[in-house]
Amino acid sequence: MNDRNGSRHARTARRRRLSTLFGVAMAFSVTTDAARAASHVETGRALASRLCARCHMVPGQGEKLGANDIPGFAAVAQRRNQTPEGIVAWLRSIPPIMPNHHLSQDEMHALAAYIMTLGAAPRDGPKR
Ligand code: HEC
Repeated sequence: MNDRNGSRHARTARRRRLSTLFGVAMAFSVTTDAARAASHVETGRALASRLCARCHMVPGQGEKLGANDIPGFAAVAQRRNQTPEGIVAWLRSIPPIMPNHHLSQDEMHALAAYIMTLGAAPRDGPKR
């Protein structure tokens, strides 16, 4: 540390450490984004099974109107041109046909994110 070379070496090493740290931070932020999205969906799933399941998640209600005439969430997700925003807009309108669940913006977005994951199946099934 007492000659110029030594301190230059130390500086280079420090710079290298910093860039490694930066790389780790970038990788970390990518995984936390994915984790955040996953937990968003998980929040939506929990809300849906607590608040919406009795109407929208009845077994056998997947692709079409169920026996109770209410579409299952898979059917909702598979609507042509369905978007998370479309689902949020529906929920925000507090449709009189549904109970008012007093959802926060965050909850609406989580529900929409969850419902959209159910639409991963082919979109071009029979249209109703
Ligand atoms: C008491 C029964 C009931 C509950 C509980 C309920 N819904 Fe509904 N929902 C309905 C009915 C009835 C419709 C209208 C179906 C129709 O006529 O198309 C509907 C429609 C919808 C639609 C639009 C479907 C479409 O036509 O594209 C969405 C989205 C939806 N509900 C989401 C939810 C969410 C999210 C929850 C829970 C927070 C929920 N619903 C709770 C009865 C319910």
